[in-house]
Amino acid sequence: ASTLGAAAAQTGRYFGAAVAAGKLGDSTYVNILNREFSMITPENEMKWDATEPNRGQFNYSGGDRILNQAVSTGKRVRGHALLWYQQEPGWAQRMEGSDLRAAMMNHVTTVATHYKGKIYAWDVVNEAFADGGSGGRRDSNLQRTGNDWIEAAFRAARAADPDAKLCYNDYNTDGVNAKSTGIYNMVRDFKSRGVPIDCVGFQSHLSGNPPGDYQANLQRFADLGVEVQITELDISGSNQAGAYGTVTRACMAVSRCAGLTTWGIRDTDSWRSGENPLLFDGNGNKKAAYTSVLDAL
Ligand code: XIL
Repeated sequence: ASTLGAAAAQTGRYFGAAVAAGKLGDSTYVNILNREFSMITPENEMKWDATEPNRGQFNYSGGDRILNQAVSTGKRVRGHALLWYQQEPGWAQRMEGSDLRAAMMNHVTTVATHYKGKIYAWDVVNEAFADGGSGGRRDSNLQRTGNDWIEAAFRAARAADPDAKLCYNDYNTDGVNAKSTGIYNMVRDFKSRGVPIDCVGFQSHLSGNPPGDYQANLQRFADLGVEVQITELDISGSNQAGAYGTVTRACMAVSRCAGLTTWGIRDTDSWRSGENPLLFDGNGNKKAAYTSVLDAL
């Protein structure tokens, strides 16, 4: 196959990109998007600050633009993200406790209901675990509403949109380490107690090669019975092309790895400005990393 999406489809997988609604008028950007990718993640447009800027007042304009672009070109959408300690609207940042818990659950239910039946997978909860060696939760006002906030969010999302896959998504989970093991233990607990969870997203914001146990780490989650997805892939460094190939081959080797998403299209679209971590250069030309991925799919 001659495009990322078509190559991934040969094994039933998808290949996606994070997309910004504000760039949908850029013809170079849209041409690459339409040609290469089969899945879209809104880069910011479905986050809490965008979708509920004032309490109880919902705004789906950016998210709907991206969803409509995807539907009209035959692509699917990963919803990102229902609850995250960053990009909370100011009103939620100032809340705590049972008031915040009620606002969180209303947000999950209302947004998931708006997009019901249209989302392939939701990042229900993003980045809830701490970095470093604790293996525990990250402190946040969300976490301080009670340790059960994650399972409550997953149950609310399932009730609102029974057909969307429900994912937990995080970074620095690229190998077997304390953080990924904390998440692994949560997923195992959810599966054993019937808390609805279908997938785990590995953001994979990398500098050079992933850890040597990257594939083994994906596999141990898959062995819990959840889908695994590479959700925000971008890689800096001189071994970029090789590292992209290694990550792609790891997904291909794990049967429950459903697909990969790069966090943007061209280097100039990246949130990691200056690191040129994507598959297309600023002019929209394919880089060596692109060929490395295509060959690995
Ligand atoms: C980033 C976006 O790319 C930026 O445009 C925004 O300013 C900040 O968020 N982990 C995530 C993504 O889950 O939502 C983040 O996206 C990158 C890190």
